[in-house]
Amino acid sequence: MPEQRSSQWYAGDDRNAYIHRAWMRRGLPAHAFDGRPHIAIANTASDLTPCNAHLNEVAESVKQGVYEAGGIPLNLPVVSLGETLVRPTAMLWRNMAAMATEEMLRANPVDGVVLLGGCDKTIPSLLMAASSVGLPAVVVPGGPMLTGTFRGVPLGCGTDVWRLSEEVRAGTLSQEAFTKSESSMIRSRGHCNTMGTASTMGLVAEALGMVLPGLAGTPAADSRLLEAAHDTGRLAVEMVAEQRTPAAVLTRGSFLNAIVALAAIGGSTNAVVHLLAIAGRLGVELSQDDFDRTGSDVPLLVDLQPAGRFLMEDLFRAGGLHAVLREVSDLLDPTAITVTGKPLVDYLDTAEIWDREVIRPRADPLLPHAGIAVLYGNLAPDGAVVKPAAASEHLLQHRGRAVVFDSIEDMHARIDDPDLDVDADSVLVLRGCGPKGYPGMPEVANMPLPRKLLQQGVRDMVRVCDGRMSGTAYGTVVLHVSPEAAAGGPLALVRTGDFIVLDIEARRLDLDVPGDELALRTPDPATVAAFANPQRGWERLYVRTVQQANTGADLDFLTGASGSDVSRESH
Ligand code: FES
Repeated sequence: MPEQRSSQWYAGDDRNAYIHRAWMRRGLPAHAFDGRPHIAIANTASDLTPCNAHLNEVAESVKQGVYEAGGIPLNLPVVSLGETLVRPTAMLWRNMAAMATEEMLRANPVDGVVLLGGCDKTIPSLLMAASSVGLPAVVVPGGPMLTGTFRGVPLGCGTDVWRLSEEVRAGTLSQEAFTKSESSMIRSRGHCNTMGTASTMGLVAEALGMVLPGLAGTPAADSRLLEAAHDTGRLAVEMVAEQRTPAAVLTRGSFLNAIVALAAIGGSTNAVVHLLAIAGRLGVELSQDDFDRTGSDVPLLVDLQPAGRFLMEDLFRAGGLHAVLREVSDLLDPTAITVTGKPLVDYLDTAEIWDREVIRPRADPLLPHAGIAVLYGNLAPDGAVVKPAAASEHLLQHRGRAVVFDSIEDMHARIDDPDLDVDADSVLVLRGCGPKGYPGMPEVANMPLPRKLLQQGVRDMVRVCDGRMSGTAYGTVVLHVSPEAAAGGPLALVRTGDFIVLDIEARRLDLDVPGDELALRTPDPATVAAFANPQRGWERLYVRTVQQANTGADLDFLTGASGSDVSRESH
């Protein structure tokens, strides 16, 4: 058997090897330490991450596969982030989860790792960690929940919360009916079933090559998930033998494949920051502009909420990711391999579309050009992103008067004020929501529309923010404005009444204020006072070292890889 990394702990007759083996021999036989690969199962199961609560069962199937292939599986609970519960925003903790997982993989005697994720930040943080450690790694996405229905109509989780709550605010749905829908939304185990961030990142992880081909998108409650988890355990042992590390799989070509997939599925804008952060860990050249350059000519083929009609269970039934990718296979890098060692494109030939309403053929796309547009201008010198597919046609080119909010508290306090000077043409601006300013870059950019405009029938307005938007949301929302207001970005200088010009076709976002006047402006004290200024703990470290959204919002000292070597012993 080849020398394993774990043998640095277990091989030999000295006192240290004795200690390492002895404490592990609670159920493990002596031959567990004969040089066979030890596979960590980085497990984000947690009762407080309801989307991942089933992952212990998935881990058991992975374990069986690892044993069957001659390896030793080891459950490694890692930091888990429940999107709906964690305050002030799960994104604040993504880098912490990535750092903690990276360090625990490096610190422990493991030779490879199976990454179990699901809810929004869990797959990104696991991939960031694995990329930095450089051990062979493979992802098992936990899968979406089954479709829930209310009054005979499917409910898309997330998306329909926004829609129904707006209906309540507009007075077209009773509070009682709204409350009743709550128990129908989450039908089964699994993550959100819209094309939100969790669904997106599971599918994108497979397009990157980091998932057993054909697995991503399998519903959490489907028995095929456990079968694939078993196979993934077997694969992890093979990957250690081949030393197939993340750096071997994740090339620039794989990231560009992921961008093509992201566009074709109409995936979440959050994938931009996550993919940039993962690429940053590997030193793979990837910029925000790659998303526009590579993605914007890709047709939108998947008709899923939030922008469309169907849900993840429908996508799986209709043929899944491979059926989508087969339609755009000419746009994929044929050399980009997967965790199996074979190219992604090799798996697409037999894929078929079984429901052409859910997955549209290339010749009949939902939109000829999907993807994510990156805007520049004097309001976003380092860029901002917008998802044209989720925007309203009549707002793609727009000039409107800014109504500015310094924080989400300010916005909530005033947005429904009948005296707020706002109309349907106004541009709502929310700042102080970037990585440093909030801190953590929350999903607040899709701010609610003023009640008085909702009651007039207005359903979309241009919104501009340095924060993020939930992948389950929709609307003409310009987000990730970089630099953010709290990092000296010109967004801090906008005043209510200024005109903002959005031109998505021209990729522009500008403040219509003369340059000499803008140069003389400084942020209002109230604007600065709203920025976070934490004095201790992770938040302080985060605010001082986090980078901007246009490069992935990772901490500056976490970019790059450190490998898996640890030379010093603790005793
Ligand atoms: Fe977990 Fe949506 S809340 S995926």
